[in-house]
Amino acid sequence: MDTRPPAVRIEPWTEADLGLLRAANSPALMDHLGGPETEEQLLSRHRRYVELSADTTGRGRMYSIVAEADGAAVGTTGYWEQNWQGRTVYETGWTVLPAHQGRGLATAGALAVVRAARAARRHRFLHAFPSVGNAASNAVCRRAGFSLMGECAFEYPPGHIGRSHDWRLDLWPEANA
Ligand SMILES: CC(C)(COP(=O)(O)OP(=O)(O)OC[C@H]1O[C@@H](n2cnc3c(N)ncnc32)[C@H](O)[C@@H]1OP(=O)(O)O)[C@@H](O)C(=O)NCCC(=O)NCCS
Repeated sequence: MDTRPPAVRIEPWTEADLGLLRAANSPALMDHLGGPETEEQLLSRHRRYVELSADTTGRGRMYSIVAEADGAAVGTTGYWEQNWQGRTVYETGWTVLPAHQGRGLATAGALAVVRAARAARRHRFLHAFPSVGNAASNAVCRRAGFSLMGECAFEYPPGHIGRSHDWRLDLWPEANA
């Protein structure tokens, strides 16, 4: 049996990725993310993703997750700035389309985002805040090498405060040496 992680690459978000965002906006995939967005919210999110990906100052970047095997776009990920407990950190998140789930693609995408956020050399810590009940996303954090800092109240989407796990990954472990 081939136990190697699946090969994926992450590609900066482009105008052509609106269809991918629409596919990721299904009730099943948005269950832990406040439910599907309206068409207006979706278009606004798409614009933000395109703009962030054109940014060269290190504020963050959004990506499609692409399977190397056939070049198919299988999901979304990225990193962006977030104020957390008095400091600016990077936050990340991920979605993988149902037909491609359960094959390690989100974990591979998360590992690629870790490398990208590290290369930005701007913030030391990368956090993820999956809902406490989002077993798959919490498993991705663990698999990708994040450390569980604890449970917290977290506002997402805006106006809705729920219980999340605060997962953190040190992008500059050498700073402790
Ligand atoms: C979270 C998500 C991206 C995972 O995608 P995926 O490609 O199936 O994840 P992987 O195949 O890399 O699996 C990673 C781990 O999650 C586990 N996992 C996957 N689905 C699971 C489920 N429904 N319940 C429990 N664990 C699950 C896998 O077993 C694996 O753990 P293991 O390696 O220890 O066995 C996907 O379920 C999704 O898109 N969910 C909706 C969007 C979302 O909630 N995103 C998170 C925002 S923070």
